[in-house]
Amino acid sequence: MQIIRHITELRVAVRALVNTGSPVALVPTMGALHAGHIALVDAARARGCQVVVSIFVNPTQFAPNEDLDAYPRREAADAAMLEAADAAILWAPDVAEMYPAGFASSIEVEGVTARWEGEARPGHFAGVATVVAKLLLQVRPDIAFFGEKDFQQLAVIRRMVRDLDVGIEIVGVPTQRDDDGLALSSRNAYLSPEERIAARALPRALGDAVAAIGRGTSVAAALDAAKARLTEAGFGPIDYVALVDADSLEPVESIDSPARLIAAAKLGRTRLIDNISVENV
Ligand code: PAJ
Repeated sequence: MQIIRHITELRVAVRALVNTGSPVALVPTMGALHAGHIALVDAARARGCQVVVSIFVNPTQFAPNEDLDAYPRREAADAAMLEAADAAILWAPDVAEMYPAGFASSIEVEGVTARWEGEARPGHFAGVATVVAKLLLQVRPDIAFFGEKDFQQLAVIRRMVRDLDVGIEIVGVPTQRDDDGLALSSRNAYLSPEERIAARALPRALGDAVAAIGRGTSVAAALDAAKARLTEAGFGPIDYVALVDADSLEPVESIDSPARLIAAAKLGRTRLIDNISVENV
């Protein structure tokens, strides 16, 4: 696996990958890799792709009060995981390479960003859309892989790629979870041992809400019960627990088309997000 830090070298290395005849995949990440990230690499390998993984802790998607400085950085361990997962290139630019002096452009995706993470984290999705557009243009892969863990982010990227005729296939990969159900996340490292146990309430509350809706409980009552359960487990504030249309991310009150139950809440100083499919109710 090649580790590349400059865009000119990246272009040469990607051209060599293209010349092998296999499709090229991009897996964008912010590092501190875990099995959730590796599942994206595995999904790309399973599609016969040569895989470029980017690691870039993107400052523009963090608000001033967020964890940019504290965000875990461990490139050597990440590189070893990617080598083992058979990635071809680790693309690890620094901030000056991504945002040289005078950088002045931004991609704003409307509609699907209006609520939830977009509301809780103003400016976040402009930062994500802009950096993902840059990464897609730098690598120009055939396919890019994203996790369903960040369900709204996946919807925002699908919207941007459609709107801007990017011509790259976007694939969503199911959320990888620990044995107790908690979605794997680099931010789980912030949880104390007690909080790590309490965190199980998040996937359980979502799973129980879907089951209750399936038994005929009203959506509003099921969402209220899920919020009460989170509060009881020690979460707070709860940013949202919502049933949304899987494409538009607009709230729905009944399940007539694919829907998603999404949630975000703080546990101590750590903000956790999760979501599950409601298609099978
Ligand atoms: P990061 O949080 O590092 O996540 C990188 C990718 O891994 C995202 O597509 C995310 O959805 C996926 N992922 C994280 N945890 C996962 C899990 N438990 N199961 C499956 N997939 C998981 O998301 C970002 O970085 C950034 O916003 C980025 C897209 C790289 C832009 O900066």
